[in-house]
Amino acid sequence: MPNKEPELVVTVKDKVRVLRLNRPHKKNAINANLYTGIVQSLEEAAADPNTLIVVMTGTGDYFTSGNDLSALLEGVRGSTSAETSGTNDNTNHHSMQEMQEKVSSGAEMFRNFVSSFIDFPKPVIAIVNGPAVGVGVSVLGLMDVVYASDRATFHTPFVALGQCPECCSTYTFPRIMGPGKAAEMILFGKKITAGEAYQAGLVTDVIPEACIDQVWSRIYKWAQLPPNTLVNAKGMLRAHKKDFLHKVNEFECKHLEERMQTEEFFIVMMKFFSRNSKL
Ligand code: COA
Repeated sequence: MPNKEPELVVTVKDKVRVLRLNRPHKKNAINANLYTGIVQSLEEAAADPNTLIVVMTGTGDYFTSGNDLSALLEGVRGSTSAETSGTNDNTNHHSMQEMQEKVSSGAEMFRNFVSSFIDFPKPVIAIVNGPAVGVGVSVLGLMDVVYASDRATFHTPFVALGQCPECCSTYTFPRIMGPGKAAEMILFGKKITAGEAYQAGLVTDVIPEACIDQVWSRIYKWAQLPPNTLVNAKGMLRAHKKDFLHKVNEFECKHLEERMQTEEFFIVMMKFFSRNSKL
């Protein structure tokens, strides 16, 4: 039966706003619609007196498979076909320029996405209902609390995909888990289990798959805390590093933009897509 719900399902109940990534047929890959939808929902949540806590989770077996790579595929195919089709220099130049514009606007969208988490004034909690990849892992470093199903895994194959770390993970990951464990994930793309993520400090608590719903009762109870005092405390936790996190975001997005225009990125992507022709 076709899924008639939107790609981002937003519900508000008893002061808890839930943002549910809802593309289960694509393992909840985050496309432009989801990036902009999340930014908009966080803006609404910040202004809404009926929202005190935001929860992000996913529909189905995955939390998210990370950035939707099909948009990248389109860009890579477009620019390589122009390079190899024997079209004249003008057409070639035009396609490369189009690709560069796409990369810049993608980086801008991504920068806003990360900024909206850095600036979000209320507590934000992830319920990682299943495997998380790429941005679905790096964004966790900007969350206040992360609960994970014992079925969840955490994988950041940035380097293998010719890209680079993002979502302030170059700062948050070493700080959370220590430099060695952060390097295993960020540089070498080591996939870790929920238990390992808990040991490393990335995950606050691991919940057996069958009991994952129990975390909701905790969250609804916390949503009854004195609202202004809770928001004030959240602001204090973020205050010391907020400006710094924005600088880290700028730094990472600049690198991302540069990486995505390198020959190495194109080669890696072409290899990746020829192996995963479905994407
Ligand atoms: N972007 C776009 N589409 C994605 C996707 C992504 N990140 N992840 C999964 N999909 C799509 C697949 O293309 C497939 O679509 P289709 O049914 O229309 O062909 C569908 O989601 C199901 O994925 P599939 O690969 O069949 O499921 P799987 O269980 O065999 O593998 C993954 C799941 C997540 C391991 C695999 O899809 C994958 O490696 N995806 C890429 C993850 C990634 O590298 N993300 C970026 C990190 S920086």
